[in-house]
Amino acid sequence: MRWPRPISPPRLLLVVLFFALCSIPGTFSSRLVTLDTIDIFTTHEWFSGEPTVFFRCNGDNRTVLPDVKEANLIYTFKGEESWQPLTDLPENKCKRCGLYEADVIKNDVFDEWEMCSSEFKDGKYTHFKEGQFNATFLCPNCTASAGDSTAHKPSSSVVEPRKTSVVVVIIVSVLASVLVTLALFGGYKYWLKKKRERDQLRFLKLFEEGDDMDDELGLSDEL
Ligand SMILES: *[C@@H]1O[C@H](CO)[C@@H](O)[C@H](O)[C@H]1NC(C)=O
Ligand SMILES: *[C@@H]1O[C@H](CO)[C@@H](O)[C@H](O)[C@H]1NC(C)=O
Ligand SMILES: *[C@@H]1O[C@H](CO)[C@@H](O)[C@H](O)[C@H]1NC(C)=O
Repeated sequence: MRWPRPISPPRLLLVVLFFALCSIPGTFSSRLVTLDTIDIFTTHEWFSGEPTVFFRCNGDNRTVLPDVKEANLIYTFKGEESWQPLTDLPENKCKRCGLYEADVIKNDVFDEWEMCSSEFKDGKYTHFKEGQFNATFLCPNCTASAGDSTAHKPSSSVVEPRKTSVVVVIIVSVLASVLVTLALFGGYKYWLKKKRERDQLRFLKLFEEGDDMDDELGLSDEL
């Protein structure tokens, strides 16, 4: 009788655990960045009309700030405007972003810089460039995963991801223990199979020895 070859349970366990662990960062919140206030100190438009100011991060589409037309005026936003949010920051990695003014020939640059989720303090981050602009950005989830800087000020935005991570840990633990059980069961089955094979071998050997004995007996009969 031939047993179906078992899919090595330890390897299966490793693969599933790997995927479970990889999906943990994905289960955390997204880090959407919205523009809170902006104050441009200059427009690069020399000749005519209103400037078209836009924000863009590497890999994203441009976001035109339709209301920002005048210099030295603080524009404040609610964060729910049609063009918000500006971008979505990855965890532990910065995005290169910039503020520009659209121009027919070549876009004028207010500034280009690295926007990092770790630089948000209490979900707020200010970028100031002398003679160009001063802008504050909001990202409630950026500080939430950074953790320690908000340790003294627990708020709902801090508590929520922790709850999520506890749930994730529980799920992963349950999954892991189920897999370990499966692996042990598989191992036990394998051991049983080996044992049976060994027993069969021993049994056959016994038979052969029996045959030898018969031969010897037969021989002695003839003698
Ligand atoms: C924060 O993360 C939650 C998911 O945990 C998501 O629903 C929410 O939209 C995120 N908020 C922002 C502003 O990124
Ligand atoms: C950029 O815009 C195009 C067309 O509107 C859209 O198909 C694409 O998904 C956008 N890309 C990003 C990164 O938002
Ligand atoms: C930039 O703007 C913020 C919010 O309006 C303000 O608190 C901060 O003092 C400004 N910084 C500079 C250097 O103007």
